[in-house]
Amino acid sequence: MGSSRVPFLTAKLQGFGTTIFAEMSALAIRTGAVNLGQGFPDTDGPTEVLEAAKTAIDTGFNQYPPGPGMPVLRQAIAEHQLRFWGLAYDPDTEILVTTGCTEAIAAVLLGLCDTGDEVLVLEPTYDSYQACISLAGATPKFVTLRPPAYELDLDAVRAAITPKTRLMLINSPHNPTGKVLTTTELQGLADLAIEHDLLVATDEVYEHLVFDGLEHVSLASMPGMRERTLVMSSGGKSFNTTGWKVGWICAPAPLVTAARTAKQFLTYVSSGPFQPAIAAGLRLPDEYFEELAADLQIKRDRICAGLTEAGFAVYRPSGTYFVTVDIRPIRPDGDGLAFCRELPERCGVVGIPNVVFYENKAEGRHMVRFAFCKRHEVIDDAVARLKGLSR
Ligand SMILES: Cc1ncc(COP(=O)(O)O)c(C=O)c1O
Repeated sequence: MGSSRVPFLTAKLQGFGTTIFAEMSALAIRTGAVNLGQGFPDTDGPTEVLEAAKTAIDTGFNQYPPGPGMPVLRQAIAEHQLRFWGLAYDPDTEILVTTGCTEAIAAVLLGLCDTGDEVLVLEPTYDSYQACISLAGATPKFVTLRPPAYELDLDAVRAAITPKTRLMLINSPHNPTGKVLTTTELQGLADLAIEHDLLVATDEVYEHLVFDGLEHVSLASMPGMRERTLVMSSGGKSFNTTGWKVGWICAPAPLVTAARTAKQFLTYVSSGPFQPAIAAGLRLPDEYFEELAADLQIKRDRICAGLTEAGFAVYRPSGTYFVTVDIRPIRPDGDGLAFCRELPERCGVVGIPNVVFYENKAEGRHMVRFAFCKRHEVIDDAVARLKGLSR
């Protein structure tokens, strides 16, 4: 987030200047640095998925798809939710296809939150949450996850709930910490949501990227939660297709209707030929998803070992494809933003300063996030460069 006032920009969006991802990716291109900043994989997704998109283009799926999404995709989303998370949704009334999870987040916040409402979010916070909460005229209330284990402080959640709280926006597996909420933490959130009659939106884009034998559990699957929860996800992270932007919302019909009302005036529809392709991905056998996580776990181990050798204090993630380090052993003043701005010139690597994900800046000032959804040789190259820092 930029802090200077941007001319012409609405008050709602002041402070949300150019995202750090754009700044850091531009820096990576200008300096030729290894980009471990923005989280995009550097290998293509499964052949079946890529071929399905090509076939869709070749066979005429190039015009507006239906508003709620193509039936083949809504059916595949329903099957996927049932197969992996035990949640049954009616593809005709309880599933909405969106332009990535980004639009799902926007549609949920714009469609279900009014001016003056409060939205409870976990800090550090994925950057679009705050901007969309602000666009909705609502106010974020932060509950901070703290290293090394990033346990959820349920007393802090309780304390953050007020009569104005409308919705809890929960991300697990969590970007940028790599935290996977435990069933005890999810149960605690469920109890509070039910007690205070709150809506819940869950951002599950990293649902298949979980390590060490842990399991992703959708908050919607806890008793009493399905009726109040909007599950949001997308195909970008699961099928290495972050550029396709095919996302979805699964929820009871009245909640989907509210989100769809906002969504229809954002994009109406998108991603025509990619919709049947993501449907093919969602129908891949269990082994595909197991191998995806297993491969990333090896990369997680490789980068954590390398970053430790490079001198950082490393917070090992249980999910996602991000790892956070404390830079203070290498840079005692702990200025993560300055460190990331200098890093490409100093050693040819780009990372993201976690401070951008915090409202309470002191909590994240000294932390930097690296993405490890990259080929092994790229990770090794980046680590070798980072090792040069302490020499
Ligand atoms: C937590 C989280 N939510 C949502 C998104 C955006 O998902 P999509 O690319 O499907 O819009 C991302 C992308 O990095 C993310 O990390």
